[in-house]
Amino acid sequence: MEIIIVDSLEEAGEIEATRLAETIDGNPATVLGLATGSSPLPLYQALRRHVLSGLDMRRVSGFALDEYVGISASDERSYTATIQREVTGPLALDPELVHVPEGGAQDPQQAAVRYEASIKSAGGIDVQILGIGSDGHLGFNEPGSSLASRTRIKTLSQRTREDNARFFATPEEVPRHCITQGLGTIMDARHLLLFAGGRAKAAAIAAALEGPVSSRCPASVIQMHPSATVYVDTAAATELE
Ligand code: F6R
Repeated sequence: MEIIIVDSLEEAGEIEATRLAETIDGNPATVLGLATGSSPLPLYQALRRHVLSGLDMRRVSGFALDEYVGISASDERSYTATIQREVTGPLALDPELVHVPEGGAQDPQQAAVRYEASIKSAGGIDVQILGIGSDGHLGFNEPGSSLASRTRIKTLSQRTREDNARFFATPEEVPRHCITQGLGTIMDARHLLLFAGGRAKAAAIAAALEGPVSSRCPASVIQMHPSATVYVDTAAATELE
């Protein structure tokens, strides 16, 4: 595992956007796994600057990590809308090639199975972009999630609902369930990229990178991946040995 300590996630975004642009130049049909949330935003913003300077991402496909259940895709708080606003639009991706689990489907469990199959039929994910929850979650695989899990419905923990309440008018409005890629699904990606910034992530990052590999800290599964890069800012690195 490559761990890169940076002053800020903006610096991480600059470094990684240059690397990712080279990957996409080499393979214009790269398949990306896409996290939402604050952590990968500087990467998306830095990648946009590469797009404005000529990087062609029209053949790149994307698979979002997760989506809330019970929020329609047109709701601006849905991850479908977030991915469109922060990734598909700014990076000029082909919307037909960008996929998000159908959290509004009549049968979300079936939608999860279909999503897993669509990742497989795209040939798997080349580069999975990730953030980490303050409770150590990866995607919405909360503590206790099977390390071998596939895309499925999960219940959000109280802590995650509180962390995400900032996107909703009231904490009660935060959905209770989601569809998330499983930890096994994430581990199948050929390369993992994890971004962690801020003091609130310090304990989770220490547990993930230096603690035992355990479902108590789902992100610790990254220790088992043969090709992973982790960007940690100085605040999130404070509990590393
Ligand atoms: C988002 C996701 C989550 C976030 C995590 C960190 O698609 O799957 O695991 O990456 O909750 O969120 P931020 O980056 O907002 O701190």
